[in-house]
Amino acid sequence: MEIRRVGVVGCGLMGSGIVEVCARGGYQVAVREVNDDLLKKGLSRVEGSMQRGLQRGKLTEADAEAARGRIRGTTNLRDLAQSDLIIEAVVEQMDLKQQVFGELDELCPPQTVFASNTSSLSITEMASVTTRRERFLGMHFFNPVPVMKLVELIRGLQTTEDTMAAGRRFAESLGKTVVVCKDSPGFIVNLLLVPYMLDAVRALELGIATKEDIDTAVVLGLAHPMGPLTLLDYVGIDTTYFIAEAMFQEFKDTRYAAPPLMKQMVLAGLHGRKTGRGFYDYSEKK
Ligand code: CAA
Repeated sequence: MEIRRVGVVGCGLMGSGIVEVCARGGYQVAVREVNDDLLKKGLSRVEGSMQRGLQRGKLTEADAEAARGRIRGTTNLRDLAQSDLIIEAVVEQMDLKQQVFGELDELCPPQTVFASNTSSLSITEMASVTTRRERFLGMHFFNPVPVMKLVELIRGLQTTEDTMAAGRRFAESLGKTVVVCKDSPGFIVNLLLVPYMLDAVRALELGIATKEDIDTAVVLGLAHPMGPLTLLDYVGIDTTYFIAEAMFQEFKDTRYAAPPLMKQMVLAGLHGRKTGRGFYDYSEKK
């Protein structure tokens, strides 16, 4: 299973980061968005991140130029059919992901490996709509993808050792450290992270402290780089809400039940940094 060409479905926060690290890692990358506007936004996010990398001396202008040359944007899933590995990074909704993989399964030859960047949904369930359940795995990156060193590799019920080994070689070639996890909701990181973030929202709802003090307590008291409410704005309140809902549906455990405030913020379009406002206001920076 030699991987040279990578297809990425979705060029949002995670997809654009995955495109960037793959292109910088020397892979040819075809990325698909649903329309030209979203594609343009996604590719400009890749460029913005590479500019940050350039400013901080993490890559040279020559490396950036070479990486740009390896990226091809498209709105047609068919243009990903020649990939050796396809990484899906669309929104956290099982029916949507299954639709994408069902279409890809018809377009791609049998040897193409399929991976999902899902944060919480079942790999086995996604793979079930394809004819390649043994060449299907979870490959979960973290935001910001060029900076965060971890990739969780998730073994579906029918994923083979060869597929896991190919996934590991690939993720390590991007400079990531791999941890392996079985197909369980939230895998390792979100199993621990989601209840913590939801508890922070509950603490705010209960008026235990201000949002600033909740965040400051965690940054200075636990030496985290960001407090939980800042992190929620960073990851996306909508994304976290979808992840929590998916985990709640699986576990039926109220630790994963999103507090009402979060649902209201999702409905009100207060999704965090990406919409200019979440727990904090980012409109000036925008
Ligand atoms: N390429 C390479 N390196 C880059 C880069 C790029 N495009 N952009 C930034 N960097 C590097 C910087 O050079 C810097 O490196 P050094 O420390 O070696 O100088 C480092 O990344 C940090 O960058 P910044 O100085 O720009 O930013 P910062 O110090 O303010 O940190 C942050 C920003 C990395 C986001 C930090 O606040 C952080 O780690 N926050 C927590 C993020 C987190 O927890 N992410 C996981 C979320 S959960 C998730 O994603 C999964 C899910 O399913 C929900």
